[in-house]
Amino acid sequence: MEKVFISRRIPNRAIETLKNAGLEVKVWGSAIPPSQEELAAHTAQVDGLICMLSDNINRDFLLKNKHLKVITNYAVGFNNIDVGTATELGIPIGNTPDVLTEATADHTFTLMLAVARKILDSNRSIIDGKWKNWEPMGFLGQDLRGRTLGVVGMGRIGQEFSRLCYQAFGMKILYFSNTIKPEVDKKFGAKKIDFSDLLAQSDVVSVHAGLNKGTKGIFDKKAFQQMKKSAIFINTSRGEVHQEADLVEALATGEIWGAGLDVSNPEPMASDSALLTLPNVIVTPHIASATIDTRANMAFIAAQNIIKGLKNEKLVGFVNPIVHTKI
Ligand code: DGY
Repeated sequence: MEKVFISRRIPNRAIETLKNAGLEVKVWGSAIPPSQEELAAHTAQVDGLICMLSDNINRDFLLKNKHLKVITNYAVGFNNIDVGTATELGIPIGNTPDVLTEATADHTFTLMLAVARKILDSNRSIIDGKWKNWEPMGFLGQDLRGRTLGVVGMGRIGQEFSRLCYQAFGMKILYFSNTIKPEVDKKFGAKKIDFSDLLAQSDVVSVHAGLNKGTKGIFDKKAFQQMKKSAIFINTSRGEVHQEADLVEALATGEIWGAGLDVSNPEPMASDSALLTLPNVIVTPHIASATIDTRANMAFIAAQNIIKGLKNEKLVGFVNPIVHTKI
């Protein structure tokens, strides 16, 4: 019987799917992720691995686990996996695209509105007993209708978020991407422009690009300085796309107006991070895909990736399909 290890507890749909396919499943039971040694101790005895975005599937791990017939992330992003080495070793790598597009775009929209309307700070004022009267000049937020959205990374999630902003508020859509997306341009009147122009012209800048050499740290002091003082920065992608110290400075000095972050750098965020004390920042703990249905669907796709990989078939979410063409 082939064996699968899942490095955290995920919805039962994965376990049921794997067991129905005749596989033996072992799940890491603790809420604390396994250390690299603990992970390796478990993967030594299995054929397939469902890992989390917090697991470091680096070259060293892969070289010690050449026997793995398939690895899938329980996530769409895969910056935690050394895909080059996996491909070199012929290990198929899976991810869970599509099923989380809407939930993630919805959460981005939630953060944008919450920052624009000072939801957290105003709520905190009630909790702190500071709300005494209706305040004619209190908590004045930003209107979003007709404003300009700048999307960095116009993939599936960037497109869905653009659709929400375009249809809800008639926002003008600009984007920075490696490729022009004619269908997006047509549907939302979107326009691909340079990174600097996007920063200078956008009222809301939202990151939807994966983390890679080209995107790591691109939101630095210089980038924040190029943004409007009234701009809102949203990151629901990966924290390492922004430089946290530069972001703190930009927010504290009024270089930008506010930020909504579902991801942080480092992650998890330190509990004494200055970002948690700034009134113009809302931080959530990497929950953009965290709806009951979405996480169950991600579990199902991850399980299918394993089943297909063990049969030498194409994965549903296939990060390195070149491996399949070599089989
Ligand atoms: C992903 O899938 O990459 C998200 O960050 C978590 O769902």
